[in-house]
Amino acid sequence: MAHSVEGHLKLKIAEYDRLIRTFVYQYDAMRAVHLDLLARCMPRDGGLVLDLGGGTGALAAAVAEKFPAARVQILDTDPAMLAFARERCAAFGDRVEFVEKSFAAPLPACDAVVACIALHHVKDMAAKGRIYRNIFAALRPGGVFANADTVMDSRPHEREHYFAVWRGWMQARGHTEAEARQHHANWAGEDYYPPLSTELRLLAEAGFTEPDCFWRDEHQAVFGGIK
Ligand SMILES: C[S@@+](CC[C@H](N)C(=O)[O-])C[C@H]1O[C@@H](n2cnc3c(N)ncnc32)[C@H](O)[C@@H]1O
Repeated sequence: MAHSVEGHLKLKIAEYDRLIRTFVYQYDAMRAVHLDLLARCMPRDGGLVLDLGGGTGALAAAVAEKFPAARVQILDTDPAMLAFARERCAAFGDRVEFVEKSFAAPLPACDAVVACIALHHVKDMAAKGRIYRNIFAALRPGGVFANADTVMDSRPHEREHYFAVWRGWMQARGHTEAEARQHHANWAGEDYYPPLSTELRLLAEAGFTEPDCFWRDEHQAVFGGIK
């Protein structure tokens, strides 16, 4: 069955924008990093950005606003999220496109690929490697892939540090410690946060000669590569 955000995060999509900031450590900081990276790599006269698992269209809208000549294609398998994105991005007309399709499918030729807290739904690292290969194949030389997501350490002591920091973030935003622990337990069913070293290895195997971590704060990172 296709991933449903309402089922996975146990929230109403209308509340997503507010709640995701209480759940996800440094959600807004990652958006700024994405936009700065795109400013380095996007052509001035247009360009196509793919937003993998773009959900409610918040990142796509930010990209469309900052780069008025660019087009953005949101790929997502959850029709309810795409319906929300359609409304949010209506003002951009046909510069934002909504494609109900898995990010694991082959991708169209593009100038940049972004993803924000979406690719952690891929639990099989061979499958993630194939997605990274598709991304590399789709990018033009000089194009950027930037994935904003959680990275976890494989060592128990470090993992516990990151999860404690993460619970602290949620607690500072209205969740009790027990609720924060329960959220992590619930998400573990569908999410996997590989160590950064695994991500960088998969990116190198996919063809990126200099896979990089562009930004990191505790367990949250924006990483990828420029082709
Ligand atoms: C936690 S939401 C993140 C949404 C958005 N990128 C953001 O930053 O708020 C994860 C998104 O990934 C989508 N998703 C999960 N598996 C997918 C797949 N195989 N292909 C495309 N989208 C997928 C979900 O439907 C959801 O919209």
